[in-house]
Formats: sequence, structure tokens, C-alpha cells
Amino acid sequence: MYSKTQLLLKYLQYWWNASNGKGHGVHSPFVFDFITKVINDKKDYPAYSKIETIRHELKKDATVLTIKDFGAGSRVDSSKQRKISSIAKSALKSRKFAQLLFRMVKYFEPSVILELGTSLGITSCYLAEGNSAARIITMEGAPEVAAVAKNNFQREGLKNIRIVEGNFDHTLPSVLNNLDKIDFAFIDGNHRKLPTLEYFNQLKSKIHPGTVLIFDDIHWSREMEEAWKELIKDATVTLSVDLFFIGILFFKDHFIAKQHFAIRT
Ligand SMILES: C[S@@+](CC[C@H](N)C(=O)[O-])C[C@H]1O[C@@H](n2cnc3c(N)ncnc32)[C@H](O)[C@@H]1O
Repeated sequence: MYSKTQLLLKYLQYWWNASNGKGHGVHSPFVFDFITKVINDKKDYPAYSKIETIRHELKKDATVLTIKDFGAGSRVDSSKQRKISSIAKSALKSRKFAQLLFRMVKYFEPSVILELGTSLGITSCYLAEGNSAARIITMEGAPEVAAVAKNNFQREGLKNIRIVEGNFDHTLPSVLNNLDKIDFAFIDGNHRKLPTLEYFNQLKSKIHPGTVLIFDDIHWSREMEEAWKELIKDATVTLSVDLFFIGILFFKDHFIAKQHFAIRT
């Protein structure tokens, strides 16, 4: 994991090189539409306040959970006992990016959505609210954390989410075996190079030209940056978009040449 200073420098470098979609830089109509209709959509959707109310409550919840520490762990601590409030403050996607996920689901209308890394269920709720007709399969290795997420899904009345408990390394193959295809996936757990590439290789068996894959924290560590560089080089990837805190891969087959964009959010 990079230090805060290293991350800040990386962020400034990204910001300097990234396009804001205006003027020169983005020649792809698909990407231009994605910027104007999804990234820059400033509407206040009713789902936002519903889900942020849950996040707010989780941030104040002093219940202590016993958790297994998977993968690269969290920035704050990797102890086995953690308060829900501590997880809610440090391990979840920010409101800004969680809401971007919601808008992406709304825009691309995927019907099969996979999430690796449920935690307390905040991004799962956003994915589910983005398309109530979609089937969301979210995966989590820590049972007590998964139980809190399930409770949040029930509270929100979200019936389109199924949570699969267990280590991704063991559960992902059977989850994929039972799916014909994946339309959209958010990979937000085990932020290390080899597992990330391994999950991608497994997901590849179920992708199609309309699939959208999102990888979290692609600049979080040297390992994740290396993984991201390999992912965008993969022959199946026709378009990659770097938003610094997440990276998005597209597989559309009508693009003439492979394209990569860094875009400001
Ligand atoms: C960053 S959190 C997910 C946050 C959530 N997507 C959100 O923003 O609301 C990552 C989660 O993945 C789980 N995780 C990490 N590695 C895992 C593995 N190998 N198998 C199963 N779960 C894992 C952790 O227990 C943790 O709860």
C-alpha cells in the first residue's frame, strides 16, 4: 500500500494527465456519452439518501464484530475485532463512487451483476437500486460482516441480492459455473496483484461484448498498479477508463483500435 504522500503525488499526476471530456482528448462518442450522461449526471436520485442513511447509522454503530482479515486488509487496522463504525468509516467505497456505480448500472442496464467484496452491503445496495430487474450476486468472506449486510438488504426491501459467503478463491469458481454470463462486475476485495489477475481470468469465461468490469483501488499500491497495467493490456479489453479510484474495462467489439482514457470525475 502506498503512503498518503505517494498516493497524493499519484493523484496529482493522474489529474494532470486526465481529460474532463471537454475540449480535446476524448474522440470516442461512447466515452463522451459515458462522461456526459453518467459521470457528470448530478441528479439527486431518491436511492441516494436511502442508502446514505444506512451508511450514516453504520458509522455510529459501536457493535464489535469478529472478522477474518482477507487479502490486503484495510488502511486502518487489520485486527480480528472491529467495530461496525470503524469498517463503515474506512472500508467502504465513498458516496461519490458508490453513486457512480448506481448510475452505471442505471445506464448500462446489466441483468447479471457480480460483486466481489460486500462488506456491510453499501455498494451492493447501490448496484441493486440501479436496476431492480437485475440479479445481484455479492460475495463476502467474513460471516459476521455478511450478516450485517444481509440485514441492510432486508431493511431496504432489496430482494434482488444474493450473498455468497466464503473465500472468493473457493466460491468464485462455483458461482461462475452457475452463471451463463456476467454483464457487470465490481471487484472490491483482496487488492493484490495475483488474486486480482486470477479473478479477472476466471471472470473472462463469462464476459461478452457488453460486459463492464470495474476494479477498485487500481492505484492503491504498486501491486494494484501492476495488475491494472496487465488488465488493460489483455487482448479481450477494447477500452479502459482510469478514474483513479476505480478502473473500468469494456469489451465492445465495434471499436477499431484499443483505447485507454484517464478521466477526471
Ligand atoms: C473494501 S471491502 C468491500 C466494500 C464494499 N464493496 C463497499 O464499498 O460497500 C472488501 C471486502 O472483501 C472481503 N474480502 C477480501 N478478500 C476476500 C476474499 N479473498 N474472500 C472473501 N472475501 C474477501 C473483506 O472481508 C471485505 O469485507
